[in-house]
Amino acid sequence: MRVAVLKERRANEARVAATPETAKKIIALGNSVVVESGAGLTAGFPDAAYAEAGAEIAPSAEAALAGAGIVLAVRAPEAEIPRGALLLGTLAADREAAARYAAAGVDAASMELLPRITRAQSMDVLSSQANLAGYRAVVEAAATFDRGFPMLMTAAGTIPAANVLVMGAGVAGLQAIATARRLGGRVSATDVRPAAKEEIKSLGASFVGYEDEESRAAQTAGGYAKAMSAEFLAKQGEVVAAAIGKMDVVVCTALVQGRRAPTLVTEAMVASMKPGSVIVDIAADAGGNCALTKPGEMVTSPNGVKILGYLNWPGRIPAAASSLYARNLLTFLTTFWDKEASAPKLPEDDEIVRGVMLTRGGAVVHPNLQAA
Ligand code: NAI
Repeated sequence: MRVAVLKERRANEARVAATPETAKKIIALGNSVVVESGAGLTAGFPDAAYAEAGAEIAPSAEAALAGAGIVLAVRAPEAEIPRGALLLGTLAADREAAARYAAAGVDAASMELLPRITRAQSMDVLSSQANLAGYRAVVEAAATFDRGFPMLMTAAGTIPAANVLVMGAGVAGLQAIATARRLGGRVSATDVRPAAKEEIKSLGASFVGYEDEESRAAQTAGGYAKAMSAEFLAKQGEVVAAAIGKMDVVVCTALVQGRRAPTLVTEAMVASMKPGSVIVDIAADAGGNCALTKPGEMVTSPNGVKILGYLNWPGRIPAAASSLYARNLLTFLTTFWDKEASAPKLPEDDEIVRGVMLTRGGAVVHPNLQAA
């Protein structure tokens, strides 16, 4: 089978869906891999590295796609995918896009819809990418902050440790806590899911939050947070407002699946912070957790707080993010690989397959995306 790897063309996208390492393993399954020239360059993987791994280099997306049975992408490609091909990516498809894949006869699988179950962990692109985004957010906060994270005791005097607050302690938030602690910050964190409180503490951070009956039931069966009521958010806001004025760095990671990110840092809270403080909002792709976040930009509030609302945080650490993403796709392929047919076999009754498949054989099959 021919497996095509495309160069990503969307704004802020420096990742690639296969690395020389995964290309080699896909070839070992009995496939040929065709990489569009320059596909890996922004992630540090030149054409020569793919060629050395045994892949063919194609001069254009069209040439890479010709005759492909599987197409690997990070984001939804704009090029025309061959009829009958399996497209694997984080496609963020709406009903219209799903209908287009169906009409084009493309079997589209969207990896961000993977169920959060143990068996799927090694294919979980949301986790692998969020982990790196959390790390990168803290590193960029440290680089932007005009003091430093650790307490520095010098002959000229002492510089205190930075106070860091992490909003949302899921995969990205927990990595942000760990990274900020490693840099020497004094870290606290908030979340709404009950399990998060223990996880925050186990990483040596303190919990700042509000708990009630609602938060005790704040986790969905899928492991995600529920959208909280306005009453709860107001109570949580009071607790955060009391703490945030002492913070030097706030890292925002809170998301609610399928919705706009909750606003957790209000304009008044930003106004209560010290000049030179930094807010990094990696929820910016979903609108942001801070009311002053401008998605895609860094802005400075009237009182001198820098707010980093850049988009696509995993794309800001592209070599590591691509390596993990590519391994996630490889694991999906090998898990569902039919050795005899030398092709993927995607059982319709498998929980993972049902989770990710948008279209199949010309029809939209995902329940969330079928025409109303
Ligand atoms: P996410 O990216 O959807 O959300 C990030 C965090 O924001 C979550 O911890 C969420 O509780 C929090 N949040 C939402 N609303 C909030 C609010 N109003 N205030 C404060 N925090 C708020 O979640 P993520 O990181 O993708 O995963 C969440 C959980 O899913 C994990 O911690 C874990 O329990 C579970 N999980 C399970 C996996 C598996 O078993 N395969 C893999 C990955 C995650």
